[in-house]
Order: sequence, then C-alpha cells, then structure tokens
Amino acid sequence: MAPGLRVGLLGYGVVGRGVAQILDARGDVEIRKILRHTPDKVTEARMTANADEILDDPDIDVIIECMGGLEPAHTYVMRAMQAGKHVVTANKKMLATHIIEIAAACETLDKKCRFEACVGGGIPWIHEILHIRRIDAVTSFRGIFNGTTNYILTRMTEEHASFAEVLAQAQAMGFAEQDPTDDVDGFDARYKGVLTCAAAFGRVPDPEEVPTFGIRGIAPCDLDYARVHGRVIKLVARGSFDGGRLALTVVPTMVREKDPLASVHDNFNGMEAESTTLGRSFYAGQGAGSLPTAHAMVQDLLSIPHPYSIDVHPSGKLAKRPAVYYVRGAKRGPLAELTAQDTGAAILTKPVSLQELKEHLVPEEGQKVFAAEIES
Ligand SMILES: NC(=O)c1ccc[n+]([C@@H]2O[C@H](COP(=O)([O-])OP(=O)(O)OC[C@H]3O[C@@H](n4cnc5c(N)ncnc54)[C@H](OP(=O)(O)O)[C@@H]3O)[C@@H](O)[C@H]2O)c1
Repeated sequence: MAPGLRVGLLGYGVVGRGVAQILDARGDVEIRKILRHTPDKVTEARMTANADEILDDPDIDVIIECMGGLEPAHTYVMRAMQAGKHVVTANKKMLATHIIEIAAACETLDKKCRFEACVGGGIPWIHEILHIRRIDAVTSFRGIFNGTTNYILTRMTEEHASFAEVLAQAQAMGFAEQDPTDDVDGFDARYKGVLTCAAAFGRVPDPEEVPTFGIRGIAPCDLDYARVHGRVIKLVARGSFDGGRLALTVVPTMVREKDPLASVHDNFNGMEAESTTLGRSFYAGQGAGSLPTAHAMVQDLLSIPHPYSIDVHPSGKLAKRPAVYYVRGAKRGPLAELTAQDTGAAILTKPVSLQELKEHLVPEEGQKVFAAEIES
C-alpha cells in the first residue's frame, strides 16, 4: 500500500520532522499536508494551521499524529477515522487513555490505528508482541520503558550522584523535559504498560488505576543497598494476565545483576515477554529520539495493509500482585503490620501488593519516600 499513499502529518516537532525527513527521502509517500500550531509557523506550501484542511481532505489516506497531549489529538484521531483515514500515532498518553474507544472505532469503521512509536520508540516491541501472539498466548511482560529514568538511574549508579544533580544534567542534555513529572513519577511508563497490555493480552485497565511509584525519592544509599545485595535498581513496568485477571504495576525494582534488564543502560529501553511456546524473549534498543521514533512510525505506515489488529476490552479491576519491598524515608508506625525487617536505614516488607503498600507510605519529617520491589 505504501507507494502512492498520501499522508497528513499532525505535529512537526522532534518526531514529526523525523517522519518528514524519512518520507521525503523515500519519495514514494506524499506528505500532502503538515499541521502547524499557529499561522506564523506555516513556512512551506504543504503546511497549514487549519486542521480541517487535513481531516476533511478526501485525498489523504493516513494521518500520522505526533502532536502529543490529550486534546485536540484525540478529537483529530476520531475525526480522521470517521472520515475514512487510517491512523499512525506516537501519542501514548492519548492512546492509553482512549484506546477502548479508538479500538472500537477501528473495528466498526474498518480502519487501522498503529502505535509502535508509543512504546519503546524504534525497538520494535509492539510488532514483536503481535508477532508472538500469532502462535502463543503472552502470559507476562516486564521492562524498562522509560529512557529518561533509566538514564538518571545509570548516571546515579555510575557517578554516585544525587537525583537532583543527575536530573539537572539530563535536562541540560535534552534527555529530560523541563517538567519531568511524567517520566520520573512513572506516568510515561504506565501509559506504555497499558498499551503493552492491549497488544499482549487484549485487556486494558484505566491508566489512573495502575499502581505506580516513580524514582523521585531515590538517593545514592538506595543504589548502594542494591549493589551490596547483588542488585541494580531499574524502573520496571510489569504486566501479567492469567486469562482472568490482569495485573500491571510500575515501580522501581531491584533486579539481579545478571538479569538482562540490569545491562540496559543510559536512555535505552529493554523489555522481556513470556509466552507459551517461545518462552522468554528479550528486546532492547533506542526507546526515543527523532529518527528512531520516526522509523517506527514509517514502519507502521508501511504495515497498514498487514492483518494485525488488536481486539481490546476493559480489564476491570486489576489483580493485586504481592511482592517484597524495600522502603526508605517512610514513617515506621503506619508500616508496622507490613514490616518483615527493619535495617535501621530502611525496612523490608512482608509480601504485599503495591496498591496496599502505597496506602501505608507516610514520609518521615523532611524526607522523600523511596520504595523498590525486591524481585524474587
Ligand atoms: N520525542 C521523542 O523521542 C518521542 C518518542 C516516542 C513518542 N513520542 C511522542 O510523540 C509525540 C510528539 O512528541 P515530540 O517530541 O515530537 O513533541 P514536540 O517536539 O513538542 O512536537 C509536538 C508538535 O506538535 C505540534 N502541536 C502541538 N499541539 C498542537 C495543536 N493543538 N495544533 C497543532 N499542532 C500542535 C507542535 O507544533 P508547532 O511546532 O507548530 O508548535 C509541535 O511541533 C508525543 O505524543 C510524544 O509522547 C516522542
């Protein structure tokens, strides 16, 4: 389908420019129009600041959405499908929030919505999950889905530096946003976990319901504790589905030094899937960046005729998955009934769900709480 395709590009930032660069170099796919935010940014004949010119253009077959944000991206995607266009998106936040509605629209309107670039940049992770599902049931996955936090954790581990120092360094180098909330508090990994659940299990939770704990409270002493115990701390999203209940968490995790996730450094992503006949399979690579992400979007574009589609249903209430946690900076009292061991500097919990643990975390005076799952 690719040669002769006509594309409307929504968004011309880091990713949108990468997509234009790849498509212009190929020459077999016409970018008919590019949406710019405001008229003063309309600097080429193919640019417009009027979304209707793209969404209502019957000669555009596919929109490539790389604007970001919930609105108007969600409205544009729905309008495009209703107008008979396929969609390729990099917008994990929008898609994780509206995936049930968008998947239903794909089904009724017989349109495709491809989202490889939403999860793991150019790895390609979603493609591999769908590929595995042609033969197997995927039973679980876990992975490092956020490059910014992985960069921060790597630098803190290697330089023994504080979270604040490394975050500032990452912002200066363009690896972290000026408002790093989505990354450091685990929300970005949560959206990617939700979308992986859609591809792997055909079940999705409400993103707001996913127990999530970020790395904002981490200190060098936590990394020291992990190292002394042969562990490395990574921000891990982990999902599983037993055919009945779905479980999904995002939480810093002490993985063993020999674990493949431990060797995923800097801003790279790494993910592992477990399925019935393939067993464990591991994927790693550039999780973001202009051209790797654009590469994933162009691959999606080229694969629109491919029969892969996702059948997605709401997961209902998430299952609670018990684990042992390391907790520092929290008041002992509220944690008393969950405590298995007090090391003085931190406590180790009995097996408890992240949902339940979070309800018992009250910061000590002047402290930030840090919690990490100790992987069994
Ligand atoms: N950057 C990455 O490495 C990466 C990786 C994977 C996924 N993503 C996802 O890709 C999406 C885009 O990311 P990005 O890094 O390319 O962001 P970005 O550099 O900020 O670019 C966003 C673009 O969208 C345009 N835009 C925003 N709101 C608009 C509106 N209401 N109307 C028209 N245009 C609008 C802006 O246009 P103007 O230029 O005209 O202001 C801007 O160029 C996000 O969903 C992000 O999560 C990014």
